[in-house]
Amino acid sequence: MLQRCRRRARKQGVDVVVYHQRMEALDLPRRYRAIFLAGPTFNLLPDDSIALAALHRIRNHLAGGGTALVPLFVPSPTPAEQIGRVRTATADDGAELRVSVLSEERSDSARTQTTVLRYERYRDGESTIVDRPWVLHWYTRPEFESLAAAAGLIAVSVLETPGASDLQFHLQAAG
Ligand SMILES: C[S@@+](CC[C@H](N)C(=O)[O-])C[C@H]1O[C@@H](n2cnc3c(N)ncnc32)[C@H](O)[C@@H]1O
Repeated sequence: MLQRCRRRARKQGVDVVVYHQRMEALDLPRRYRAIFLAGPTFNLLPDDSIALAALHRIRNHLAGGGTALVPLFVPSPTPAEQIGRVRTATADDGAELRVSVLSEERSDSARTQTTVLRYERYRDGESTIVDRPWVLHWYTRPEFESLAAAAGLIAVSVLETPGASDLQFHLQAAG
């Protein structure tokens, strides 16, 4: 992802500085007036304690008056008929790529959904097969607001799309 970012920026003549860090351990040399997640990546943090650590790190990187934008969503279960269905694509080097959902477990009490995905790559008679769990963790609006408050952040606005499961929080330092 970062290689693509560098390549596209170079093509457009844009000078970018990219860092590769876990958001729950974010430690950068400056503060920012705007911090945003480009999509609901926050839902990849697998539990509330890691989410709280990430919110603390976001809080610590906000400059005075700065705002953080955190989009969130509630995932839908994978429909039963899609389990085991293989989707294919061709990589730039001609390799055949396949992806399928092997299984899925959902816990409404932990607010997590774990989908086991199988990734396959075939080229010149060689194959690579990797099974990886994809964990999504979600929040109700008050649950997320109380985690944010515990990290010293308040929601200055929350955008909800009627009929959709996504929420966008604009957070600022409390007090
Ligand atoms: C769906 S992709 C985001 C794509 C990106 N926003 C874009 O527009 O191209 C999610 C990314 O989050 C990264 N990720 C997962 N857990 C993370 C964590 N704890 N801290 C930082 N990044 C994480 C994954 O490695 C993956 O690259």
